[in-house]
Amino acid sequence: MKQCLVCDAAVETFLNLGRMPRGNGFLRPDQFASEFFFELSAGLCAGCGMVQVRNPVSPERMFHADYPFYTSTSARMSEHFRRLAGELRQWCRSASPFVVDIGSNDGTFLSPFAAAGIRHLGIEPAANVARAAVERGVRTLSQFMNETLAREVVAENGQADIVFSANVLSHIPDLHSVFAGIKLLLKPQGVLVFEDPYLADIVAKTAYDQIYDEHIYYFGAGAISRLLAQHGLELIDLIPQPVHGGSMRYWVGHRGAYPPAGSVAERLAREDELKLGRLETFERFRERVERSRQALRELLEKLKAQSKRVVGYAATAKSATVLNYCGLGPDLISCLYDKTPVKQGKYSPGAHLPVRPDREFANPYPDYALLFAWNHAEEIFAKEGAFREAGGRWIVFVPEVRILD
Ligand code: TMP
Ligand code: ZN
Repeated sequence: MKQCLVCDAAVETFLNLGRMPRGNGFLRPDQFASEFFFELSAGLCAGCGMVQVRNPVSPERMFHADYPFYTSTSARMSEHFRRLAGELRQWCRSASPFVVDIGSNDGTFLSPFAAAGIRHLGIEPAANVARAAVERGVRTLSQFMNETLAREVVAENGQADIVFSANVLSHIPDLHSVFAGIKLLLKPQGVLVFEDPYLADIVAKTAYDQIYDEHIYYFGAGAISRLLAQHGLELIDLIPQPVHGGSMRYWVGHRGAYPPAGSVAERLAREDELKLGRLETFERFRERVERSRQALRELLEKLKAQSKRVVGYAATAKSATVLNYCGLGPDLISCLYDKTPVKQGKYSPGAHLPVRPDREFANPYPDYALLFAWNHAEEIFAKEGAFREAGGRWIVFVPEVRILD
């Protein structure tokens, strides 16, 4: 048993996924020999209830100048952030509103604020995606968010009306420094709005592929509300989101600044009912994960015996967990198709499947395509309708392994 990254209590490991590469560590053949691996396992803290990875990789190793994830590659995610930016505009009521995005990536969320002439700042450590944001007119600092940086931002810009962060806080090992920084950053009536994959959805869908190096924490409302309380902050609303296979949007204010909506108490009660703070819940999750691995391997071995050609669709970071945990190599899945230019021509981390441009998916179509970007299923099925019409079949593994009709 080791100690919690958040509270120093003991953490009970419930799932060991074995030797793993970095989820976004796409590489060239000359880099195979020096590829970085670590032991990936997840545990539940008996003290604060935070679900977490046991051996976090250093942020500098993950969010480097070659970071291959661009928010704007998904039309649906872009639309999701555009809609939220519109909704949050009404919170910019002060004389000179200021909006901060932590982990602003390529500026997708901030660009409508930039276009409207609203003061804003993106904080994005990965230099390449930060540059993409600057090129589209979004003011961006290429640094890691922490308490020291928050002090500097406030000294230079004043406090913020809105602090936003999507799929970023759960990637930061030192949550105390980040929340202390947010406490400093927010105006007295300011709001923090953040969203991350939701623990209850991960458990309900057996979505073990959400567990990879960048996802250090798996947030639920219970653990988050305890952490916020330590920093003089509190939950004021919780709104489930369909993106990323089930996310939670947390609205946060300074303690006492806003009356919490009924959704907060309701969600906390629901998490108690689901036993989201209990080890037994995660032991059952592990059993489902092990069954899922067995089912996927059996299906792919069967298709191989029938000489079917199976490919993977979307070289997601999540796919690294599935490919490496299930031991799937080029003999079972011939390649991955993906629309991200910097992934194309490279090889997937650990399993070393070649990544090809998605526009080559049709020449010729495979017999089966295993959908790794299951969180973008609607967008992808709509775009790739011709695959189905040509007799191709989709395979999914969340919530369970099956061939779609
Ligand atoms: P995500 O699951 O972390 O959002 O990553 C999505 C990955 O899927 C990213 O590598 C881009 C890829 N992708 C496609 O190749 N085609 C698509 O239509 C979509 C939506 C994503
Ligand atoms: Zn803890």
